[in-house]
Amino acid sequence: MSRKKIALIGGGQIGGVLAQLCALRELGDVVLFDVVEGLPQGKTLDISEAAPVDNFDVCLKGANSYEEIAGSNVIIITAGLPRKPGMSRDDLIATNSKIMTSVAEGIKKHAPDAFIICISNPLDAMVTLCQKVTGFPKNRVMGMAGVLDSARFAAFIAWELGVSVKDVTAMVMGGHGDDMVPLIRYANVFGIPVMALLEKKYGSATKAKEVMDAMVKRTAGAGGEVVGLLKTGSAFYSPASSAICMAEAILRDQKRVLPVCALLEGEYGVDGYYVGVPCILGANGVEKIVEIDLDETEQALFNSSVSHVKELVDSLK
Ligand code: APR
Repeated sequence: MSRKKIALIGGGQIGGVLAQLCALRELGDVVLFDVVEGLPQGKTLDISEAAPVDNFDVCLKGANSYEEIAGSNVIIITAGLPRKPGMSRDDLIATNSKIMTSVAEGIKKHAPDAFIICISNPLDAMVTLCQKVTGFPKNRVMGMAGVLDSARFAAFIAWELGVSVKDVTAMVMGGHGDDMVPLIRYANVFGIPVMALLEKKYGSATKAKEVMDAMVKRTAGAGGEVVGLLKTGSAFYSPASSAICMAEAILRDQKRVLPVCALLEGEYGVDGYYVGVPCILGANGVEKIVEIDLDETEQALFNSSVSHVKELVDSLK
């Protein structure tokens, strides 16, 4: 049986970490593609030289030509500009949509059977464009945002409660913008509702709500918080880990239930737009969209996030 092949389009900050994580987890052979000559070759050589120390048996190759991605099982796209301080993800749309169009054309021609995970921002619009240009079926084109946003939310909850991150489950739905929707009611620590634990900790429902509201706000602005500190780019470790979690679910047919930016066709009352919702991810990519009950408040927040996604996507037309 031959090894799986993963192509990473964009060899910048996220692309480099993606390549290293693929190697460390032995997910398959890696092609790191970038338009800058030498960059992907240098990064893959550097990572490959750590193989004897880290004990991984995969081949990593840098490429400037799309022919090299032929036969890829999974492709992760990070090509595009990252944010600078003061910029919103939406400010990247003009430049990144040109880049995404050329990337999607390259994939369509050279890796027509691949599953695609987009990371480039503004995510909801970039993944829509990628699916339109490739014409691939919806189960094979998805975006990574919810796994990252949910990880950030879960980390803040774990730090606040002084518990292991391993025991926290917290999900964020909706678009990958400032109006994303962290689901407070479903957030739990090994099955115990987070709100109940906060009320116990503070002895007051009002204070518990205040603390939760602050965590929700921090989650929505978490990408910007990192940009503000780095000043020269955006987050790259946690986005890479989150996309690798999705790629692994597909490559190893894990049937993970993860929030994925998936094309909705009637689910959650949305038709024809990519939005973050819980999905089952396995060997067939997005195998199922899981519909959970939203109460009135959650539904209103979700609708407002979706209307922002629609505005952004419609501006591409
Ligand atoms: N094809 C392939 N790669 C490209 C192209 C293209 N047409 N245009 C630019 N690139 C490459 C750049 O050369 C650069 O190496 O994309 C890479 C982007 O890397 P970084 O600038 O380091 O950005 P990164 O932090 O990795 O983020 C990439 O993901 O989270 C989003 O907002 C972020 O849109 C940004 C993307």
